[in-house]
Amino acid sequence: MTDAFAQDVHHGLSSNPKCLDSKYFYDSEGDKLFQQIMGLSEYYLTDCEFEILHNYRDPLLKNFVNQDKSFHLVELGAGDGLKTKLVLRHFHRVKAHFTYLPIDISGNVLNMLRHELSRDLPGLEVRCYQGDYFDALDQLNQKEAGRKVLMFLGSSIGNFNQYDALTFLRELNQRMNVDDQLLIGFDLKKDPHIILRAYNDDSGITARFNLNLLHRINKELDGEFVLENFYHYPIYNPLTGETRSFLISKVAQNVRVGYLNEVFEFQMGEPISMEISQKYDRAMIYDLSEKAGFSVEKNFFDNRKYFVDSLWKKH
Ligand code: AVJ
Repeated sequence: MTDAFAQDVHHGLSSNPKCLDSKYFYDSEGDKLFQQIMGLSEYYLTDCEFEILHNYRDPLLKNFVNQDKSFHLVELGAGDGLKTKLVLRHFHRVKAHFTYLPIDISGNVLNMLRHELSRDLPGLEVRCYQGDYFDALDQLNQKEAGRKVLMFLGSSIGNFNQYDALTFLRELNQRMNVDDQLLIGFDLKKDPHIILRAYNDDSGITARFNLNLLHRINKELDGEFVLENFYHYPIYNPLTGETRSFLISKVAQNVRVGYLNEVFEFQMGEPISMEISQKYDRAMIYDLSEKAGFSVEKNFFDNRKYFVDSLWKKH
């Protein structure tokens, strides 16, 4: 991990404009901060998807079942599985014929999930696949026959720009069979104030989440970032639906990163581009599904239409 991390940090901080990859937010401290973000009143995304999965748990099951056959419920990036458990509990209670196959980069996360599920939903067939999405899916495909329903929840797709999202979904499509399904979460375009507040909460948790990556560089790569010398700056562009966050250098400064044996120079006011959280509208979702080799079967919205879990079928 450290070497890929080191290379990516080196490349990002040598680029113009400077950037860091948001996939590195999630060390143990970042995991905790993201848990806190999901509990913030400003961060509507988690509440919306909870509402959707709760309200539509039965229609979801009916749409997942194909001609009475069983299916594998494959979750990409299972995390703490809190949202998924809501669905699993229902499917388990009505004795649906399915297995749950979570994929996650963290073996730790998977062990906890396996443990909790064997306690809470005894008899549920669970097999975990550890690794990055595509490697784990390749392994899974070699071992598991039968129809797959993939779940990619929580607007994780939003962390890709639109071009990379298409590339990602095409690669996913290649690892699916005809009639396999994908349930994918999109955060929708809405009042820009509401969106911006979700990424700029009053208690400053999102700022800490962002700054934590500099702290991680300090810890793991012997960096000398002074966190007080940067501040969190999010923006939303209602034309493109792109939310972006930056860390802005408050002063002109040089920052040494020991492990890279490199000093990076910052101007006063210079940004580091940290994260994209793409917001979608209906047309963008249909366009994306079609270009990636899917057709949209059904859209499940929350009451406010802030968020959608869109059910796609590979054709
Ligand atoms: C985990 C990618 C869905 O972009 O909304 C939350 C991460 N960043 N607050 C998002 C995040 C700042 C989140 N996703």
